[in-house]
Amino acid sequence: MEKTLFIIKPDAVKRNRIGRILSMVEEAGLKIIRLSLMHLSREQACEFYAMHRGKEFYEKLVDYMSSAPCVVCVLEGNDAVKLLRSICGATDPTLAAPGTIRSEFGINITMNSVHASDSSESAKREVKFFFPEVE
Ligand SMILES: Nc1ncnc2c1ncn2[C@@H]1O[C@H](COP(=O)(O)OP(=O)(O)O)[C@@H](O)[C@H]1O
Ligand SMILES: [Mg+2]
Repeated sequence: MEKTLFIIKPDAVKRNRIGRILSMVEEAGLKIIRLSLMHLSREQACEFYAMHRGKEFYEKLVDYMSSAPCVVCVLEGNDAVKLLRSICGATDPTLAAPGTIRSEFGINITMNSVHASDSSESAKREVKFFFPEVE
C-alpha cells in the first residue's frame, strides 16, 4: 500500500465540487485516511510549493492557494501516487484527458481544481508537511 497527498484547491471548494471530486477518488479505489478543510497561510503555500520558487507562476500560485480554504487529504492504495495522478489529468485542464478531474472541473492552468503528489518521494514529504503523525 502506498500513500499520497491530495488537495482540492480553492476554485473547486468555492464551487461546491468537494463531494463530486471525492467520489471520483473513492471510485478509483483510493482510501481516504486523512481529510481536513484548511485555509493555508501564504507562508505554508510558499513552503509547500518551494520547488517552484523562482518560476514565473510561483507568486500567482501561492496567492491563489492561500486565497480561500482547500481540502487536504491523505489517500492510500496500490500504486496510489500513479493512480491519483492519472485520475487528476494533465496540469492544464484544456490538455487533460476527458473524464479526468481537471478536465471536468479545472478552470485554467492555475485554478486546476486539484493537487496530487508527483512521486513517492514527494508524497512522503507532502504527507508529512500536513499530517506529521502519519506513518
Ligand atoms: N505555466 C503555469 N502557469 C500558471 N500556473 C501554473 C503553471 N504551471 C503550473 N502551474 C500551477 O502550479 C501548480 C504546480 O505545478 P506543477 O507541479 O508543474 O503541476 P502539477 O500540479 O500537475 O504537478 C499547478 O498545479 C498549477 O496550479
Ligand atoms: Mg507538481
